Amino acid sequence: MALSLNSITAFRSSCPYLSKTSNSQLRSMSTKVSMQGISRLRSKAETCPVLGPVMATRASQLGLTNGSYAGAQQQQARGYAEQVDRRTIDEIHRKEGVKPGQGGTCPHAAAGIAAAKRAAEMARQAQSQQAQAQQTTSFESPATRDNATTAKDAAVAPSMAAALRMNPSNPLFDYNGFYAEELDKKHKDKSYRYFNNINRLAEKFPVAHTGSEEEVTVWCSNDYLGMGRNPVVLDTMHKTLNKYGAGAGGTRNIAGNSALHLALEDEVADLHRKDAGLVFTSCYVANDATLATLGSKLPNCVYLSDSSNHASMIEGIKHSRAQKIIFKHNDVVDLEAKLAALPLSQPKIIAFESVYSMCGSVSPIEKIVELAEKYGAITFLDEVHAVGMYGPRGGGVAEHLDFDWDYETARKEGRKSIMDRVDMFTGTLGKAYGVVGGYVAGSADLIDMVRSYAPGFIFTTSLPPAVTAGARAAIAYQKNTLVDRRLQQLNTIAVKQALADLDIPVVPGPSHIIPALVGDAHLAKEASDKLLVDHKIYVQSINFPTVARGSERLRITPTPGHDAALQGKLVSALEDVWTTLGLKRTADWAALGGNAGVGVAEAQTERIWSDTQLGLKENAAAAAAAGVKVTAGEAALHPEYFSGNANVAGVQA
Ligand SMILES: Cc1ncc(COP(=O)(O)O)c(C=O)c1O
Repeated sequence: MALSLNSITAFRSSCPYLSKTSNSQLRSMSTKVSMQGISRLRSKAETCPVLGPVMATRASQLGLTNGSYAGAQQQQARGYAEQVDRRTIDEIHRKEGVKPGQGGTCPHAAAGIAAAKRAAEMARQAQSQQAQAQQTTSFESPATRDNATTAKDAAVAPSMAAALRMNPSNPLFDYNGFYAEELDKKHKDKSYRYFNNINRLAEKFPVAHTGSEEEVTVWCSNDYLGMGRNPVVLDTMHKTLNKYGAGAGGTRNIAGNSALHLALEDEVADLHRKDAGLVFTSCYVANDATLATLGSKLPNCVYLSDSSNHASMIEGIKHSRAQKIIFKHNDVVDLEAKLAALPLSQPKIIAFESVYSMCGSVSPIEKIVELAEKYGAITFLDEVHAVGMYGPRGGGVAEHLDFDWDYETARKEGRKSIMDRVDMFTGTLGKAYGVVGGYVAGSADLIDMVRSYAPGFIFTTSLPPAVTAGARAAIAYQKNTLVDRRLQQLNTIAVKQALADLDIPVVPGPSHIIPALVGDAHLAKEASDKLLVDHKIYVQSINFPTVARGSERLRITPTPGHDAALQGKLVSALEDVWTTLGLKRTADWAALGGNAGVGVAEAQTERIWSDTQLGLKENAAAAAAAGVKVTAGEAALHPEYFSGNANVAGVQA
């Protein structure tokens, strides 16, 4: 019988013993074990004239005399079964004057007998678990035994494992039992994560080898542009490594602040056309630290957060302890209603993303900025899945929306671009830029405030010099070329078109992300495994909690390296998997009323990159000049003809 400190302290005033005993003494007595294997507190309580008899009665009801909880359960169950046998019930009926109708069954007796059967089954299970535990004891070391027993208990019956943690013969908390039980929950709801062993080969991009050295094509990496093996980036990193060594050697505050870090911060500030930038070890940390700091510092701050925001933003907002209001994903009507309900003078931060990575949707940035200006809010825009890939210099979707903007002239004339109107941007150096790290860019004072107050920035070792230099080289490289991001888009268009032709369902969206909808956690994993084993293609399945249950998917991300030959293999492998596993096609989802935007009419599909921006019109013109007629669609479906070394001869009218 567990004695909780809280319940005991409640009786303080009425107990002459308790009133003289300090809390720390009580705590120590409740954790120290007596010779009999019970806590000292319990041992003392048994001698109390008031508590003692109560405990004795309760202990005999629970059958605690043998000191084993499993034994106690068994006896409790057996005792209940015995209490409700036919003789007892008849006796109760006789005493109560209840007479079952002739030929019928007494409802009390029937219920009693059913309960007795259940109790007998409980007793049998408890007995068999106890026997298994004893068997384990006989041939395994104590450490293995603890793990084996608790894992088995948790796998079979979590509530039993929880009960075992209350074992009065061992009052210490059963940590391993607890871990096993938590993991068991993940297995049961199918959200347990399996990590594939994938080793991406720099010289064979997008090929990787698995743990067994088998080569597979990776179709789900966030190294969106292949910058992880870009020769300029690698060369910069090699040279920096040789000159400055492996690590930064300290926090930014103590010996870890180099010219390379400062140059990288200038680079990201320039990328987003802001006064200043601040680099973190990842964008997860950048989001968490920035949002936590701002929300806790701004007086009475309230966050307006898109319902599909990334975990790093959710955590940052939580850590700020500021008020949070969630608005419907990309829904400016809902956002406006929520903004309008707040006092104009109250500090407000609208936190949202440009490209949402699991569904590929894109936020209405301009409209959100307008609302922020109208209601006195500031904007925090995560461009993690957009930097490097959108905008003439890779500045993200905000930059892309003003693709041909002349910043110099506009500034002289006092006109502001959308990028100018967003208050702060965060981005990663680990996806399209192929290295690792994250950052925030904004006004000089905002960035200085985060630098001065954010623990996630201050109290951690800064990025290694080679990483810092490599990331800067990647940003600078992508600022000066359109080739990679155009080709990435063209490959995406081609794959989306080919899947649409086969009625393989893709969550519609205007970005480079291709979420192929499966709609079932188990099937999504099976489809991913089948692609890997049967077709040597790696596409990770995405399950709850990353996406909603019932909308599980395969998330496909084409890069410039996924040429027409690789696309052909992917598409036929997906067709095989969809057929073999009997997965739903777009028409099936439409018949069911749609799912995750698949099979519904009003889907958001207009591409961010227009045909003109992709150079498709120029290519078509070049093809025409060469005497070959191609449509924009054909140009997109055969991007290799227009990837810089245009050889249009193979494209027929
Ligand atoms: C929207 C979003 N923000 C932030 C992050 C974190 O970025 P990083 O990988 O640099 O920690 C991610 C990671 O996937 C993300 O999807």
